[in-house]
Amino acid sequence: MEKYAEQTQQEFEGWEEFFSKPVDEKVENFIRNQRIYDIIYAQQFDRSFLDYLCSLADSIRLLAKTKVGQSKLRHLLPHKRAMLYFVQPSTRTFLSFQNACHILGLSTSEIRGTSTSSEVKGESPEDTIRTFASYVDLIISRHPEAGFAEKTAWVLNQTEYPVPVLNGGSGPDQHPTQALLDIYTLEREFRTIGGLDGKKIAMVGDLKRGRTVRSLSYLMKNYQDVELVYVAPDVFRMKDDIKEFLNKHAIPYKETEDFESIMPEVDAIYMTRIQNEYAENPASEAETFPQFHLKTKHLSMIQTHCAILHPLPRRYEIDIRIDKDPRAAYWRQERCGMWIRAALIAYIFRVDGEIMDELS
Ligand code: NCD
Repeated sequence: MEKYAEQTQQEFEGWEEFFSKPVDEKVENFIRNQRIYDIIYAQQFDRSFLDYLCSLADSIRLLAKTKVGQSKLRHLLPHKRAMLYFVQPSTRTFLSFQNACHILGLSTSEIRGTSTSSEVKGESPEDTIRTFASYVDLIISRHPEAGFAEKTAWVLNQTEYPVPVLNGGSGPDQHPTQALLDIYTLEREFRTIGGLDGKKIAMVGDLKRGRTVRSLSYLMKNYQDVELVYVAPDVFRMKDDIKEFLNKHAIPYKETEDFESIMPEVDAIYMTRIQNEYAENPASEAETFPQFHLKTKHLSMIQTHCAILHPLPRRYEIDIRIDKDPRAAYWRQERCGMWIRAALIAYIFRVDGEIMDELS
C-alpha cells in the first residue's frame, strides 16, 4: 500500500505533563461514576475488583454452558458496538476480545494494520482513534508504542463524545488484560490449595521487554505473602521500575540465571518468549537461550501442584511434550482470556449485576 505522507504529529497541550505524572496520580482520570472506565494500566485493579471480576467470569462461563444461557448473554449488549484497532500482530488477544464481545451480543469492527487506514494519508493516530469514537461504543487497541492507549484515552476523555479504551497491549510497556487473565488462571489452578495468596511464582525469559510479566508483577501487590523469582539471562533482566515497585510494596523477589535451582521451590512457572521484535535488528537476536527453556526432564523436578503458564505465542521455551502434563495450564489460560475479557466488558457496560442475578 502506497504511503502518501508521513504520519502527522501535532502536540496535545498538557499531554507531556500528564504522561510524566506517577500512575497513582493518573488513575482517577480513567474512572467515571465510581467505576473503572478506561483500562490502561494494571495498577488500576485492586483486590476486590480482581475477586469480583474472577467470579463474574466464572458466572459467564457457567451461563454459556447452555443454549438458553448463551442467548441470555447475547441479549445483554446487542445495542453496543466495539472497534478492535490492532496494529501490532495478535492472535489470542484479538480473537478472545472479539469473541468476548460476541458472547455479550456486541457487534465488532476491526483494523488490523495502519496500511489500510487513513494513517497512510498522514492522519495522526489520535485523529484515527477519535474517528472510531464517532461510530462505536468501545475501543480496544493494541499498538507497538508504549503509552499509546493511555494517550488516546486521555485525548478522547477531553472530547464531547468519549468512549472507553481498553489497552490490549502497548509496546513493551503494559498488557493489563493479559494480567487479568493470568490472575484468573492462577486463582483457578490453585482453587483447591487456597488460591494465589502465599504462593511463589517464577517468571522466566525476556523479562526486560515482556509486557505481560511487567503487568502481572504490578498485580502481585493485591495478594498476601506472594514471592516472585525472576529467572532471566543477564541481558533480559527485569527493569528497575518494577523492582522499585516491588520494594515499595514489600513484595519479596529474587533474581537468578539458574532456572533448575528454583524449580523445586515454586508453585507456578510463568514462561515467556524472547521479544526480539523490539530489537533494532531482530535477526541479530537468533540466540534461543536454552537454559531458560522448560524441558520434559524438568517435570520430575517441579512440584506436583506447580502450574505452568505462558501468555503464548510459544517458540522453544516449552517442549510440546509438556502439553500433555496436567500441570500445563497455558491452553486453559488462553480460554480464561476470553471469559475474563467478557467479564470486563460486562462490567464496563454495567450489565454485571444482571449476570450475577441470573445465577443467584
Ligand atoms: C503476549 C503479548 O502480546 O505481549 N501475547 C499475548 O497477548 N498473549 C506475549 C508475547 O507476544 O510474547
